[in-house]
Amino acid sequence: MERHHGSRTRGLSAGIEAVPQGPFFEGRFGRMFRNLPVFQANKDDLLALAESMTQAGVVDNPAIPAGFTYLGQFVDHDITFDPNSSLQRMNDPEGLVNFRTPRFDLDSLYGRGPVETPFLYEQDSPGGVKLLVGRVIDTDGNRIQDQHDLPRNDFRQPTDPQQRALIGDPRNVENTFVSQLHLVFIKFHNKVVDKISNEQPQLRGDDLFKEAQRIVRWHYQWVVIFDFLARIIPEGMLDRLLRTDDEGMRSVRLRFYRPERRPFMPVEFSAAAYRFGHSQVRGRYKINTTVPVRPTFLPASDLPPKENVFEFRTADFRGFRGLPPSWTVSWPFFFELDDGQGVLQQSFKIDTNISGPLVNALPGADHQDPIDRSLPKRNLLRGKALGLPSGQRVARRMNVAHASILTGDDLGLEGDLADKFANETPLWFYILKEAEVQQNGERLGTVGGRIVAEVLLGLLDGDPLSFLTGTVATAIVRAPPALARTGPPSLSLPCKTWRVLLQARRPSGRCLRQGRHTPPRTMRGPTYRRAGKA
Ligand code: HEM
Repeated sequence: MERHHGSRTRGLSAGIEAVPQGPFFEGRFGRMFRNLPVFQANKDDLLALAESMTQAGVVDNPAIPAGFTYLGQFVDHDITFDPNSSLQRMNDPEGLVNFRTPRFDLDSLYGRGPVETPFLYEQDSPGGVKLLVGRVIDTDGNRIQDQHDLPRNDFRQPTDPQQRALIGDPRNVENTFVSQLHLVFIKFHNKVVDKISNEQPQLRGDDLFKEAQRIVRWHYQWVVIFDFLARIIPEGMLDRLLRTDDEGMRSVRLRFYRPERRPFMPVEFSAAAYRFGHSQVRGRYKINTTVPVRPTFLPASDLPPKENVFEFRTADFRGFRGLPPSWTVSWPFFFELDDGQGVLQQSFKIDTNISGPLVNALPGADHQDPIDRSLPKRNLLRGKALGLPSGQRVARRMNVAHASILTGDDLGLEGDLADKFANETPLWFYILKEAEVQQNGERLGTVGGRIVAEVLLGLLDGDPLSFLTGTVATAIVRAPPALARTGPPSLSLPCKTWRVLLQARRPSGRCLRQGRHTPPRTMRGPTYRRAGKA
């Protein structure tokens, strides 16, 4: 069975009964706005609204390169992944008790570590702590020397049914882009292991693993906040929520996402606000200089027959299969990198126009079923099933100025829909429309930006091992504001953090080779025992 992104929503599919309603209780899922009434929309009206979101009109967002769409998806998988055993889940079907706190801990990469999930690790590497890297196979089944893929289970011929990727989260193979991004993180981890092994040979086995894990996680967390979040929320919002005092110390100030006990996943985030990424997905992509432009996903009826192996595998970017030869993603097509060839593609604007492949060609969906194959329909019905409040109610609860709350004509709806949703609109739709009206589709608006920012910062703040709260946080948070985009000075400068990650794809990435990302003494030594997570 294919495990699609969204197929394991950790109880989300169960509906409203899986989300604690009480004002105090917090479990697997929870609510940010507990006292707001559920928006009781009519199902047919929601389906008609979804139809209106599928009209032509998708346009490039000049502010956000296309790669951030899939970094967003990678982040979603990381914080919604629950590697508890299925047995444990069966004992706790609603997931209200046995719940691993959502964290930016890259469980999707590490699984449960080299001891419990040894099949993810390269046994011949130092301490057996490097992650496995796979190779692309050609049409004759030969492994191609310089073309890397995720490691795959018993994959010898392009026709083999066993092409399952051996990774910590089965959802990270849903499409070519998120799979290749996963590979970047694997290679980055391996580079970091090499570097630590050279510089601190006394660290072995579990200690080596934990130290590498800590460095990789902190780089990733820094990218999530200062490169990803800072781009998608309104300008200035991050500085208001992540304050810097006179000493240069940073602290998180949240108003709406305030877990009483431990961080949880609010449904306003997972079923509405963070699904903004669906509107960023392009209908077609170019991945490198050799492969022609391809549709993101083709409807099942347009796919070549499976017997035409090559055509079938290269028709679109759906996942769950080995990477075809020459399909290595060239990252300058996806991120602003100044050290490679490629024509940068932008993501699509954050607005209520959803591109064709997500409307009629969702991989893994039942294509005879008009609801199952349409992501806008599924998102709006999921919001209803989970009892979300309307966007306008949330805006008022956030004290958004009356004039800035979207109603009536602001919503750009026509005919019946204009009347039916004039004063109350589903939260997901509202957040997309708000981005369109307030930010010209380049960033999220007040409500969407605030929900996403509070949850991402709250998760980081609630994690005792994150770069904000870990033992050596002081060294990092003192980074002057001018460096906010480039990362912690001693971890990645003078290379941009992204470049550090992406160059780990090469045998000798410049940044790592020059040793410029070496953590200072304060980030090493005894702290690794506390900073790593088993
Ligand atoms: C090609 C890209 C993508 C596809 C095909 C896809 C597909 C899906 C599907 C089918 C669902 C389940 C819908 C339901 O029945 O409730 C889902 C859920 C979700 N998606 Fe996506 N998605 C994509 C990209 C993204 C991106 C870029 C983001 C955010 C930046 C995102 C965020 C979410 C969230 C938060 C959920 C609910 C929680 C979860 O299941 O992980 N998705 N997506």
